[in-house]
Amino acid sequence: MSDRPEIQPAEGRLGVLLPGFGAVGTTVVAGVEAGRRGLAPLTGSLTQLQTIRLGKRTEGRAPLIKEFLPLSELEDLVFGTWDPIPDDGYESALEAGVLERHHLDPIEDFLRSVKPMPAVFDKEYVRRLDGPNVKKGENKFALAEQLREDIRRFKSENDCARLVMIWCGSTEIYLRRGAAHETLESFEAAMKENDPSIAPSMIYAYAAIMEGVPYANGAPNLSADLPALEAAAQERGVPLGGKDFKTGQTLMKTILAPGFKARMLGIDGWFSTNILGNRDGAVLDDPDSFKTKEESKLSVLEHILQPEMYPELYGDLYHKVRINYYPPRGDNKEGWDNIDIRGWMGYKMQIKVDFLCRDSILAAPIVLDLALFLDLASRAGMGGIQEWLSFYFKSPQTAPGLYPEHDIFIQHRKLKNTLRWLGGEEPLTHLGLEYYD
Ligand SMILES: NC(=O)c1ccc[n+]([C@@H]2O[C@H](COP(=O)([O-])OP(=O)(O)OC[C@H]3O[C@@H](n4cnc5c(N)ncnc54)[C@H](O)[C@@H]3O)[C@@H](O)[C@H]2O)c1
Repeated sequence: MSDRPEIQPAEGRLGVLLPGFGAVGTTVVAGVEAGRRGLAPLTGSLTQLQTIRLGKRTEGRAPLIKEFLPLSELEDLVFGTWDPIPDDGYESALEAGVLERHHLDPIEDFLRSVKPMPAVFDKEYVRRLDGPNVKKGENKFALAEQLREDIRRFKSENDCARLVMIWCGSTEIYLRRGAAHETLESFEAAMKENDPSIAPSMIYAYAAIMEGVPYANGAPNLSADLPALEAAAQERGVPLGGKDFKTGQTLMKTILAPGFKARMLGIDGWFSTNILGNRDGAVLDDPDSFKTKEESKLSVLEHILQPEMYPELYGDLYHKVRINYYPPRGDNKEGWDNIDIRGWMGYKMQIKVDFLCRDSILAAPIVLDLALFLDLASRAGMGGIQEWLSFYFKSPQTAPGLYPEHDIFIQHRKLKNTLRWLGGEEPLTHLGLEYYD
């Protein structure tokens, strides 16, 4: 095992930079402020609520994670955003329709004080959106320079000791990795040539990494999932995480599928459909943005069930995912799953899941946890992809050649064992033979 790193203390303010200030972005910011004022519980956040068992079950040591490791305090968080739509936090939260007035009105002044900076935005990559709050520049490299200036200015104006950046922007159109993404040199040259293979979310990721700011991607588009940016982050000791927050239907899938597999039940088909009516739903109504999302959602079952190892159980699994834009539902989406499973002697059974879900309510604690854990990783000198944060993602980034782990229970164990390691404690194996010696 690698030596435990020295962790720098969490002193001073932590700036949390959010490109994209829509449903998820405003729900995080409002929730943190409501939590700070004791107006609402921060349910769903491991950094705020979860304990961690240390040592043997007989030792009775189970502190809160935030007491075990030096995480930034909520009081020390300051928020900065970019968005092509110039609405402040209050207006944007009202438009998003996730939180109710009785939660927003008491913190209106605070929310109004969070105003998005002009974005690096190009309608080519998010076709169903447009907005006037957009930077102009000679080429994509010049836009990256402007973002880097924003980052430095935000840090000094808000007296931040450290920063993290989490992409909460829209899902961009489907792009593949290509030659421009191979090395930092090719990436920078492509930006200078306005190469179409460089999407806005990649420019934010580049700006963050070059400024030494940890970066996570909450959407399924590539963003920092590129050899050039992964290597740059590794070399500079900048933590990276991605992609696509694990919420809603995929969260249910990664909870249920490991259970079926653990019991060696076969699965013939898994049909998932959703109706949702928020801005994200409108963006995903564009087939090119949906393709990016679809790929992220489909890979989950394949990795959990390992059909190549269990061809008789999962070899013929038919997996289908649909997202339908349906405005009346707003952010309160409904996701149906029909799962056709097979048991003893091949007898067929069906499971129906109807999840009346609030996606942004599930995403917000993920953003808070990622901000605090990425900052912790940075203070521990852990650069590059943080696979231990896969727990939070639908489509986890991994080292080249390594398949991603999607099983939420394995991901959770890995996350907590990494925290134990960071805190100088032994990882838990759950072997437990010593209790019976
Ligand atoms: N809501 C969830 O639970 C959830 C779960 C997983 C992933 N996601 C992803 O998180 C992202 C945000 O979701 P949301 O529900 O908040 O969507 P949203 O549409 O409400 O907000 C996204 C915001 O990003 C802005 N934006 C688009 N391009 C930008 C750019 N280049 N720079 C800065 N801002 C930009 C848009 O103007 C919009 O305000 C989406 O990509 C979504 O797919 C959301």
